[in-house]
Amino acid sequence: MYSARYQYAGQNEQHEKVDFLTNKEKMSSKRKTGVVVGVLVALLVLAAVAAFLIWLFVFKDADSEATLSEKRVPAVLVFSGHMKLVDMTYDPKLEDTSSKNFQMLADDLEEILEINYKKDPFLAKYYTKSVVTAFSEGVIAYHWTQFNVPADDLEMVPEFSEERVLEMLWKGIRKQGKQSHQDIKISEVTASYTDPRMARNPRAKECFYRLEAETNVQSFQSPGFPAKYPPKSRCQWQIRAPEKHAIAVRFSHFHIEDDCSNDFVSIYDSLSPDESQAITEKCGQRPPTNPLQVVSSSNIMLINLITDSAIQRPGFRAEYNIIPLSTAKTCGGRLTDSQGKFSSPHHPSFYPPALDCKWTIEVAAGKKVRVKFSIFRMKEPGVDIRVCHKDYVEVMGTKYCGEMSSLALTSQTNILEVTFHSDESFTDKGFNAEYNAYDPANPCPDQFACASGICISKDLQCDGWNDCGDMSDEMKCKCEKDQFACDNGMCKPKYWVCDRVNDCGDESDEKQCSCDDNEWRCGDGTCVPQEVVCDTKKDCGDGSDEASCKVSPGICSDFSFKCKNQECINKVNAECDRVKDCSDGSDEESCDCGIRPYKLNRIVGGENAELGEWPWQVSLHFMTNGHVCGASILSDKWLLSAAHCFQTSNSLNLVTSNWRTYSGMQDQYKQDDVQLRSVQTIITHPNYNQMTFDYDIALLELSQPLEFTNTIHPICLPAPSHVFPAGMSCWVTGWGTLREGGRTARLLQKAEVKIINDTVCNVVTEGQVTSRMLCSGFLSGGVDACQGDSGGPLACFEESGKWFQVGIVSWGEGCARRNKPGVYSRVTKLRDWIREITGI
Ligand code: ARG
Repeated sequence: MYSARYQYAGQNEQHEKVDFLTNKEKMSSKRKTGVVVGVLVALLVLAAVAAFLIWLFVFKDADSEATLSEKRVPAVLVFSGHMKLVDMTYDPKLEDTSSKNFQMLADDLEEILEINYKKDPFLAKYYTKSVVTAFSEGVIAYHWTQFNVPADDLEMVPEFSEERVLEMLWKGIRKQGKQSHQDIKISEVTASYTDPRMARNPRAKECFYRLEAETNVQSFQSPGFPAKYPPKSRCQWQIRAPEKHAIAVRFSHFHIEDDCSNDFVSIYDSLSPDESQAITEKCGQRPPTNPLQVVSSSNIMLINLITDSAIQRPGFRAEYNIIPLSTAKTCGGRLTDSQGKFSSPHHPSFYPPALDCKWTIEVAAGKKVRVKFSIFRMKEPGVDIRVCHKDYVEVMGTKYCGEMSSLALTSQTNILEVTFHSDESFTDKGFNAEYNAYDPANPCPDQFACASGICISKDLQCDGWNDCGDMSDEMKCKCEKDQFACDNGMCKPKYWVCDRVNDCGDESDEKQCSCDDNEWRCGDGTCVPQEVVCDTKKDCGDGSDEASCKVSPGICSDFSFKCKNQECINKVNAECDRVKDCSDGSDEESCDCGIRPYKLNRIVGGENAELGEWPWQVSLHFMTNGHVCGASILSDKWLLSAAHCFQTSNSLNLVTSNWRTYSGMQDQYKQDDVQLRSVQTIITHPNYNQMTFDYDIALLELSQPLEFTNTIHPICLPAPSHVFPAGMSCWVTGWGTLREGGRTARLLQKAEVKIINDTVCNVVTEGQVTSRMLCSGFLSGGVDACQGDSGGPLACFEESGKWFQVGIVSWGEGCARRNKPGVYSRVTKLRDWIREITGI
């Protein structure tokens, strides 16, 4: 799978919602005549009953759970922070929680906290305990305090503001010095709202670790690693370094559940889990190519692992060592070469908190400077990227923050200053930048100068693609005769107009797409005379003129759904749509397919698929070569794949015993819950043509049936009449190579691609597609299937709530190239053959 582009997939949430509106909508359109009112009332009553029943069975459980946790269980509020103790010499024994020194001072401070909180009648009511968790040089004491608010008092929660707690504490502590604990003087105190799961008592020792960082790299790991971390863990690692040193931690393995609200790792630039000193909070799985690395701003760091009872993952392994503070915090400088590179401190590690740097780039007089940031990530929760009030890079008076895919800037003079600022909380990867000097009279010799200052090849100007990144190479272009002039000044091939894909980027190629009054607009945007619609002959290239015809039952066209009893249903995509259309119900038979048993909360980051996200995906291993092709599950005995995986110049590919099929797999190196089955029969399509890849389809019969589970489930096959319109978003999945000529993936990959209209498909493939093929991808390139994805499914999600397999990965010119989309076997055209062989 090749994917340079990733689109955030909020999809899942949509799929699983239950929509009540539809019934009401249907009803309101009927509200026309008085006679209908009675029917309407009856319908409303029915709908209300239905809605109540749905609520009763679908939502009530979830509801009552929510009420339970919200109403009956008291709220736990925790405030954590630190106190500075003055006139006290620091004894390293204070670092050992089992030492007398620690215990005595901690006891005294806990008492001071308790006395103070109890002085405030409001806080006293809810106070449960105060815990001192650590000391560091300064002398700094780290503490937290917990309050339990009974359910009935929950409305009072707003009174528990950080300000109130802090004010109380500060007022009391100032007086306190003069009373019982004369030897303890506190000059500073902080307390901020803290996730109660992070409040640990180091004296309890359970899943609590103290680490001393040194120059040599040492390591630590989460409990249970690499198998699974324990459920409901609250683990904490306190890391210390000698004075004047910073701590660097690198997570070489990191696999936490994908939903951060369940399981996560949080890292602090303090020994208190204090939001205001958080470095970062992460979950999910990170590939070894993108490890999480952080650096502290001083000689302490706190790492927490929080898990719930649901899903357990392997956890993490981390390496840590010290860096002298002088090097950890040195950054910026003067750059006087005519070109060079610079990056944020410690990049690609996260930069340390609380750091300012300045680079002054000075090139020869008369020249100017251009800077190009290749990576730019300074994202923080709650920051408006137009203001950048927390971490930022500032160039010529403008602050930049957030995440940018391309940022290029040019100076006004021969000097350019770049400043970098990070505040106390939340850090990120930072940036990587390159600069060079250029002659303002001729900024791009023999090249095109983008508005941003970067130079690109002249051929790329006005070619319909945004090569500059700021579109400046596509503005003010004179469009050729066969091109369409977009409103934004770009030129696009005329045949892309009205294909339901926003090719211009500003929708202008899809704006005036309605046909004349006496015409009908096909799914691919072309107009056909009104008379030919529903004449049982296909006039639109995609057949959409015959797809939804209200002809009397019994009249059959190529576009009708044919019931088992030979009845014809003239409705778009009637099969498995949860509505019984055939009088014998055959359109809703065998519909236990195309669903994901796992309720995936959301899909976060990257293109790695989640376990169970594509439960019909199969990996085919050949002899000792490992994964070579994909396949999909049609039933417990049948898999669908591509003929070209088996019909090759090597006759061994047709020998069943050379193949192994793995279902329920996500990671090629992991076999837990994976079902291995051998192949009993390989059936390739008799018309398969090795030269043209026509009829590139194969069926595999398994020797033993599969057992369906949360991660193993069949996909739905579309009826021959099923319409997948151009522009529809579908997903291709597989372990294929991540780029042309690259290696196959270890983790299952997914990519969102669009169905491309047949005319365009035919043009871009220079007429090589047959009616048994379809194109899908992006003409701009960047996302595609690739070598090793063959035989795998192209799956589309239908409104009815099911996934249908529209294509089988078949071929393409290279991978993800411009104007070279992926070509797939068209399942609707091969549907009847599948039924002939398998009976499915
Ligand atoms: N034939 C390739 C295989 O055996 C799949 C190619 C798909 N290529 C593409 N650009 N979509 O794995």
